[in-house]
Amino acid sequence: MHPPTRLLAVVALGACTLAPVAGQTRTEPAPALIDSLAGRDSFDRYCAPCHGITATGDGPVAPGLRKRPADLTRLSAKERGTFPRERVRELLAGTGRAIPAHGSSAMPVWGPIFRAFESDARARARIASLVAYLESIQLPAATR
Ligand code: HEC
Repeated sequence: MHPPTRLLAVVALGACTLAPVAGQTRTEPAPALIDSLAGRDSFDRYCAPCHGITATGDGPVAPGLRKRPADLTRLSAKERGTFPRERVRELLAGTGRAIPAHGSSAMPVWGPIFRAFESDARARARIASLVAYLESIQLPAATR
């Protein structure tokens, strides 16, 4: 991993580890990655610090960012009701054309971060379950 990526990983995981997880008090240092591959668990740990527990973009770290974290409950609404599964997967995995721009934004590129701490297969499973979780929390376009 080249230095900027490693720095990003440390910053991202640090932010995630410090973020309070609802109803949980921690007595030991958190492992680099949680064991659970469930989408909700990964989301609460790695995404909620910025995107918020409700995924609407209001996490505790958000005020310190240059760019507001996206409201992840409206991804389908923004695409006329179709969840952009491939785009989201590629965004998280760090593959696909959107990445050069995304890598320089305030949003970490997660694939390389996960792969630095666990096998490719687990990183793929983690990203797949995150994408499925995001799909499950989409709000219909009419609610706002
Ligand atoms: C360090 C803060 C931070 C963390 C942690 C973070 N994000 Fe983001 N995310 C952002 C920001 C900021 C944007 C908006 C980026 C932009 O527009 O350049 C964003 C954008 C996104 C988008 C694109 C939304 C769209 O409208 O296309 C998705 C999807 C996303 N994040 C998912 C996740 C997931 C899943 C996680 C956890 C694995 C996560 N993010 C963790 C800050 C973060």
